[in-house]
Amino acid sequence: SICYLDGTYQPLAEARISPMDRGFLFGDGAYEVIPVYSRRPFRLDQHIERLGHTLAAIRLPNPHDAAGWAAIIAEIIARNPWVDQSIYLHVSRGPDDKRNHAFPAQMRPTVFLTSEALVTTPAAQLAKGVAAVSAADFRWLRCDLKTTALLANCLLRQVAVDCGCAETVLFRDGFLTEGAASNIFVVRDGVLLAPPKSHLMLPGITYDVVLELAARHALPHVVREILEDEVRSADELWMTSSTKEVLAITALDERPVGSGEPGPMGRQMYAWYQDFKTTVM
Ligand code: PDD
Repeated sequence: SICYLDGTYQPLAEARISPMDRGFLFGDGAYEVIPVYSRRPFRLDQHIERLGHTLAAIRLPNPHDAAGWAAIIAEIIARNPWVDQSIYLHVSRGPDDKRNHAFPAQMRPTVFLTSEALVTTPAAQLAKGVAAVSAADFRWLRCDLKTTALLANCLLRQVAVDCGCAETVLFRDGFLTEGAASNIFVVRDGVLLAPPKSHLMLPGITYDVVLELAARHALPHVVREILEDEVRSADELWMTSSTKEVLAITALDERPVGSGEPGPMGRQMYAWYQDFKTTVM
């Protein structure tokens, strides 16, 4: 694939950065994953706004304005072969002469974007849903920031992979936070429940779309803190993300969720999402 690195478009296999880059040494950076359908980025403004929020919070000057980012993303989309793509956008605090926790005097952020084919969920998986495990959420207290320091998320996702599951559902102090790389929704008694945005979870772009679709279609929904016990006795459980869209979790810790099959509300939301993603940007 063709990537963008510090002003240059080049084959990904040829791209090189310094081992002194703070992204490499400290995980000191911000990122976004942006889905592209029919060569149009989905919810681009919202992704760029969230990037700006992360960069401001970690005190990294934003190297581009919204129009600048849009231009690079348009170029990446055009230079790569796939109609549906997943764009990875990364800004690190760049290289320094010496390894030093404190910020360099002269910051030269590294800007890296790449693309891969966006592979949506196969029909068989949609029909069956996926299995998940649970774990204690031991991440830091700024999970609202999309930073590249993802060691905790990697360890937590691997817990799922090691037992043949697709995602790890995280609980902190008896409450649902999110997944290792997704947001989690719960359905109980015909009502869609979503945990409130806080410093304990990423404000997902897909999460916002799901709540917008619920409002638009007058689906009963409540945003409130969700107890671990409520998750374990839910009728439906979904994971959402830019690459997984809306995906039913039909088993949690080897016990069926509800009927053990994707539920009616999840199927409905999936259908609304499919319709929305191709008609609206
Ligand atoms: N992950 N929560 C976490 C911890 C995430 O890493 C993600 C996305 C989400 C969902 O956010 P969104 O709907 O904006 O994609 C929630 C991306 C896809 C990733 O790291 O690859």
